[in-house]
Amino acid sequence: MSASFNAKEQQTSVPDTGDAPASGINANTVVLGLLVLAVIYFLMPGGKKNKVPSGLNAGQGQRGAAPKAAAEDDDEDSWTAKLKSQDKKAAVFFGSQTGTAQEYALKWAKEARSKFGVSSLVLDPEQVEFNNLDRVPNSKAVVFVMASYGEGEPTDNAEAMMEFLLDEDVQFSHGGSRLDNLNYVIFGLGNTTYAKYNEVARKLDARLEELGANRIGGRGEGDEIAGSEKGYMEWKERMWSEFADRLELEAGAGADIADFSVTEIGRETDNNTYLGELSEHALKVSTGRAPARGIFDAKNPYPSPVIARELFALDGERNCVHLEFDISGTNISYSAGDHIAIWPSNPDMAVERFLSVLGLADKRDVIVDVKALDPTLAAVPFPNPSTYEAIFRNYLELSALASRQTLATLAQFAPTPQARAILERWGSDPEVYDREVDKARLRPAEALQLATGNDPSNPKDAAVWPIPLDRIISLLPRQKPRYYSISSSSKMYPTTVHVTAVVLKYQTPESKMHGDQPRWVYGMGSNFLQSVQENLRYGDLAGANTTIRLEGMPTQTPTYRLKGPRDAHVQGNVLRVPIHIRRSTFRLPANTKVPVIMIGPGTGVAPFRGFVQERVAMARSAKQRKGDAALADWGDMFLFYGCRREDEDFLYRDEWPQYAAELDGKLKIHTAFSRGPERKPDGSKIYVQDLIWNARDALVPAILHHGAFIYICGDAKSMAKEVERCLAQMLADYRGGTLEAEGYEELKNLKDKKRFQTDVWS
Ligand SMILES: Cc1cc2nc3c(=O)[nH]c(=O)nc-3n(C[C@H](O)[C@H](O)[C@H](O)COP(=O)(O)OP(=O)(O)OC[C@H]3O[C@@H](n4cnc5c(N)ncnc54)[C@H](O)[C@@H]3O)c2cc1C
Ligand SMILES: NC(=O)c1ccc[n+]([C@@H]2O[C@H](COP(=O)([O-])OP(=O)(O)OC[C@H]3O[C@@H](n4cnc5c(N)ncnc54)[C@H](OP(=O)(O)O)[C@@H]3O)[C@@H](O)[C@H]2O)c1
Ligand SMILES: Cc1cc2nc3c(=O)[nH]c(=O)nc-3n(C[C@H](O)[C@H](O)[C@H](O)COP(=O)(O)O)c2cc1C
Ligand SMILES: *[C@@H]1O[C@H](CO)[C@@H](O)[C@H](O)[C@H]1NC(C)=O
Ligand SMILES: *[C@@H]1O[C@H](CO)[C@@H](O)[C@H](O)[C@H]1NC(C)=O
Ligand SMILES: *[C@@H]1O[C@H](CO)[C@@H](O)[C@H](O)[C@H]1NC(C)=O
Ligand SMILES: *[C@@H]1O[C@H](CO)[C@@H](O)[C@H](O)[C@H]1NC(C)=O
Repeated sequence: MSASFNAKEQQTSVPDTGDAPASGINANTVVLGLLVLAVIYFLMPGGKKNKVPSGLNAGQGQRGAAPKAAAEDDDEDSWTAKLKSQDKKAAVFFGSQTGTAQEYALKWAKEARSKFGVSSLVLDPEQVEFNNLDRVPNSKAVVFVMASYGEGEPTDNAEAMMEFLLDEDVQFSHGGSRLDNLNYVIFGLGNTTYAKYNEVARKLDARLEELGANRIGGRGEGDEIAGSEKGYMEWKERMWSEFADRLELEAGAGADIADFSVTEIGRETDNNTYLGELSEHALKVSTGRAPARGIFDAKNPYPSPVIARELFALDGERNCVHLEFDISGTNISYSAGDHIAIWPSNPDMAVERFLSVLGLADKRDVIVDVKALDPTLAAVPFPNPSTYEAIFRNYLELSALASRQTLATLAQFAPTPQARAILERWGSDPEVYDREVDKARLRPAEALQLATGNDPSNPKDAAVWPIPLDRIISLLPRQKPRYYSISSSSKMYPTTVHVTAVVLKYQTPESKMHGDQPRWVYGMGSNFLQSVQENLRYGDLAGANTTIRLEGMPTQTPTYRLKGPRDAHVQGNVLRVPIHIRRSTFRLPANTKVPVIMIGPGTGVAPFRGFVQERVAMARSAKQRKGDAALADWGDMFLFYGCRREDEDFLYRDEWPQYAAELDGKLKIHTAFSRGPERKPDGSKIYVQDLIWNARDALVPAILHHGAFIYICGDAKSMAKEVERCLAQMLADYRGGTLEAEGYEELKNLKDKKRFQTDVWS
């Protein structure tokens, strides 16, 4: 599809080299463009009759699937031949521009497999020939998932297919123009805002009917406005039932279809064995076969040297850490407002627990080769061959809540009838699940331990569940990085990326599954950062196999293997952690005259430390160029910050006065100490929104008359919503209007102009 996009862009840019204005596309350029297209089209080898892509693919090698005369023998490379030789029951075509239809095509194929054990070919119509449609046997089906565009036009990748089928002289491979033998399923994607709603699917449906093909179920239509998912759900029930009838399939046959094959290949580690490395490049580096340089991104995170310090530690319960990742000597760059992705490993407890529950503790270093049985539907989510231990330590997400679906699926592997009954109940009764699993925040392996009457506080106390690894891989998500708002400016710190992370530890409510006691739960990634900080503080990384345990800490505080795969993350006193940068749109206005209003209580202050540093760095160079009065016309920087107590958790308390001094009073910090001595007149806590409200006489004119940018960062659940309401209310009051019309509407306008931006998480 991207190739077609490029072709289209080129097409309009051709006339631009002539007299047409260089910018924009005027009527002339479009007409000329079409003319060029038409010429290419008619010059195509084979002429109009053959099924040839719309000409956009001319000269693009394979993508346009060279037209072949109606071959009498089924070419073994053709999709119809593959349907037979690979024993597929369906070919699923997606007409997709931005990927939605493609997603639905995969969704359909996955459901077909899980329901009936049916395996399908998911195909891009641009890459196949449609004159073969008459070769699809009656025991199989063709599925069309088609998006509509413009005036009800097909997507680029479906243009040729539509043109071929709608041609009144259509001719299939056997010379006929009928499809009486063909079973088809059709689902359209569209948006009712457009006049030609779902036109492509409707046209195609009508045409196939006309050609004698037999639809299975009704035509489904997904409408973005009502929710495409809703349209799909409403449609699918009847479609699946008719699909099963027509193809004579049995429901339930799919329940045991594996996504992956897993082969144990011994314990002999070689240079190709992944022991937790996140990319092929990382493996080459850790086995000494490549230099540590390269291009670093989400696919190849950079093991960055890190330094860290504690920002506060209260009662052993609340910790916040400051980390600095050294990106010098790499190609990595960042801007204030970007996010950093940090790739932690799972804590020792979680790894041990999973290995014990699966009976793999003694086989932790056995190497397995994992292959996708149907790569179009499910790719192996991590690199391999790899060991059991590395798979659980580095590649699978073990700390997410055990889902009902997962528990229901695992019931069949229970070692005892009692355990099976417990899992079936969790899987089928939402209330019991909420009370017993969700309330206690049980992770999958903890849930399995409890179901067999074991004690989750001891990861090795586990009855063995004979669950094949391929099931685990299908059920658990891939280990994901954790994102943090970068808390530095690259103008001030070009070679380090700073992070401000609060360590997630919380107590669950009392729960039956935990002896009617509350239970401590530790966030996977933030406690990894905490352990990095502690180990660096001890200054001796020799023990960095796992975290050093501080005296007085709760005994269950997680420990981690910080040395990394093949010990590649520790060298002398340097500790490395894999990272990559994710660009965001959270940005300061380029013009320093524009005022900014920054609202970030707690760790929400992170990106604003970056923003303030950015303007400090700019102030330094402005003063060098223009002298002491350089900031006279700069806009104000309002920072609204809140924490519990001034002397406990005030982040970067000692840095702000210095920044304020360098910004010549332009930085105006308002602090709300929610658990300090001051209270509101009614005795309630003071929060940032109260300070914003008090400062409204300065803030509203800055917003409405001086183009101020507004930013909110931090807790999405309550803080951000309450602050937005406060902003809307003061805008409404100033305008003499209502909260909805003049308040929220104005905020929405600001959002559209990128003058109101949020960076929030929950
Ligand atoms: C764009 C973005 C920017 C971020 N920036 C920062 C930042 O600058 N600083 C920062 O500290 N964090 C930031 N975060 C949050 C950070 O990414 C992690 O989510 C956080 O550190 C927790 O990760 P974890 O791995 O420790 O927790 P996990 O093991 O992933 O557990 C987190 C899960 O625990 C559950 N949970 C949390 N609290 C409770 C509770 N009280 N009761 C029940 N369940 C609960 C939630 O379902 C949550 O999804 C940001 C997140 C995003 C998406
Ligand atoms: N689930 C929630 O409701 C919730 C709330 C806050 C933070 N968080 C999450 O906890 C993580 C860390 O937070 P943190 O430690 O950085 O922040 P924090 O220290 O917990 O909170 C910072 C300040 O914000 C105050 N605050 C609490 N609720 C507020 C509200 N509705 N509006 C304005 N201010 C409010 C807090 O006051 P008090 O604590 O004294 O009330 C505290 O003074 C973040 O990931 C955040 O998403 C969740
Ligand atoms: C520029 C544009 C034009 C569109 N035109 C139509 C249309 O004419 N009729 C319709 O039903 N939907 C129309 N849509 C909605 C798309 O069909 C819908 O977004 C669909 O989910 C996109 O699928 P895709 O991601 O597979 O390309 C249009 C969407 C865009 C962005
Ligand atoms: C539907 O299309 C309209 C017009 O292009 C667009 O504004 C709207 O965002 C679309 N709706 C959705 C849910 O994508
Ligand atoms: C791994 O690669 C290194 C560096 O090229 C080489 O010296 C070593 O012999 C290789 N080891 C194995 C087991 O192939
Ligand atoms: C930077 O990227 C280039 C490729 O774009 C690569 O050749 C070079 O080695 C990289 N430099 C470093 C220091 O990683
Ligand atoms: C760390 O692991 C190495 C093997 O990789 C082992 O030799 C060493 O004793 C371990 N150190 C500690 C402190 O556990």
